Amino acid sequence: MKTLPVQIAIGLSMTSALVAAFEEPAWAKTPPPAQTLGGLVKLGTDSSGPPLMRGPVPRTGMAPPFPGATPPNFQKEHAVRPENRIGGKRGPQMLPGLTAEQLADFQGGLEDFVKEETAETGLGPVFNDVSCVACHDAGGIGGAGRKTVVRFGRVIDGKFDPLTELGGSLLQKRAIAPEYLERVPLEANITALRITTPLFGAGLIEAIADSTILENVSTPKTDGVMGRAAMVKDPVTGQTRVGRFGWKAQHATLFGFAGDAYLNEVGITSRYFPTENAPNGNQVLLEKADKYADPEDVVDPAVNKTDSEKVTDFMRYLAPVPRGPVSARSKIGADVFKQVGCTQCHKPEMVTSLSAPAGLAGQKVLLYSDLLLHDMGLLGDGIEQPPAKMKEMRTAPLWGLRLRDRYLHDGRATTVDLAILAHDGEAKVIRDKYKALATDKRQAVLEFLNSL
Ligand code: HEC
Ligand code: HEC
Repeated sequence: MKTLPVQIAIGLSMTSALVAAFEEPAWAKTPPPAQTLGGLVKLGTDSSGPPLMRGPVPRTGMAPPFPGATPPNFQKEHAVRPENRIGGKRGPQMLPGLTAEQLADFQGGLEDFVKEETAETGLGPVFNDVSCVACHDAGGIGGAGRKTVVRFGRVIDGKFDPLTELGGSLLQKRAIAPEYLERVPLEANITALRITTPLFGAGLIEAIADSTILENVSTPKTDGVMGRAAMVKDPVTGQTRVGRFGWKAQHATLFGFAGDAYLNEVGITSRYFPTENAPNGNQVLLEKADKYADPEDVVDPAVNKTDSEKVTDFMRYLAPVPRGPVSARSKIGADVFKQVGCTQCHKPEMVTSLSAPAGLAGQKVLLYSDLLLHDMGLLGDGIEQPPAKMKEMRTAPLWGLRLRDRYLHDGRATTVDLAILAHDGEAKVIRDKYKALATDKRQAVLEFLNSL
């Protein structure tokens, strides 16, 4: 343990804190262990916000958290919590108005979302976790989570190099055998953590037409707010689409993200993501480790779908978090949120396309995001993920915020207030307006956000 670089130790301490911190009331009360923040080299500090967690990787080499795929407590640690199981008190909710066929697809997809992969089913050789739910489970199956993944790269003269040939920019923290474990290469001079985002209501976000998001680009804005759409390639059709999923809006479709996640988080190749990750880019090791033919995610003859397709069904029909109780103060907070200008990026609602499937068409999506990329200045994570530049981040949707206890892309903020104060770049002027609010108004904004 002592040789772990700090960013890995952070992941570990978060994991061990997860079980205890999971009960909802405790979230607000239990402060995170102090060691989860700081530690990484600070590049600079915005006086109003928490320390920035990016900078050179400590040159200590690295021993990832779990030597081998199945340490003693692995299964226990990754078991689906009883309250999250189907029929449990937080069991996954479906969108209303689905057809019987869609319901069956949702149930079928759920099974794959919680299924633990093993080396025999294609897990690894390098991976981050064994199932989708292992990370996505805050507030129920498909939620956000405290687990983070690590991105790294090298910046020289302001140019970002993802170090693809060394396995970048995403680190896989685990492997099916110790000899395949990845390290943050010494060549990297930047690392960033990314915390797990929620999937509640993801199908509605997917069903928003590109043109609706593009309208947000042309809406007039003030106070230095800009915003541009992340134009990305749909891995299936090859078409250019408006990206909307992930911290950098790196995918336009849930199926695209599912294939990416199966490959890069779980180590399972599929039709559109057919190339296995070589451990730190080492093809010789890959050849030795990879005993299963690609694509590993094959069609299940019973339903004529791959796992990537099935988990996509689950995510697509997963209901958004219903709005919490709205107090008089949170109503005031909603007004202040708008007056200050937060809604310029955190756009309260968009409407889905009328041509979307049953249950998804013509719906109001109360997501509180414009789904655009914004230059967030010091808050940017320093990772270039084309088309998103180093400082650009997608406006984080704020629905369901009350089910979470870590905020911002790296989970650095333990309170919503800290998350707001850390806004920078295009959001700087509006952040300062928030900061200058009388305490009761600021509280009202927080109460409003806590009702989402
Ligand atoms: C190791 C933890 C981990 C595992 C395992 C994992 N995810 Fe994620 N997921 C994340 C993180 C972290 C993000 C944010 C990543 C980013 O934007 O860089 C994310 C984001 C997503 C998003 C984007 C949601 C949004 O709007 O931002 C989707 C969709 C998704 N995951 C689906 C899946 C599916 C499907 C699986 C299983 C095949 C899966 N994930 C497995 C950690 C995980
Ligand atoms: C210029 C666009 C912009 C403006 C203006 C803006 N935000 Fe944000 N907001 C973002 C982006 C982008 C993120 C994600 C940043 C990150 O984590 O790197 C974010 C994240 C957040 C988060 C954390 C969400 C999460 O998932 O962790 C909260 C809370 C939030 N904003 C509230 C506010 C409030 C309140 C205001 C007004 C005072 C505001 N924002 C103004 C763009 C904006």
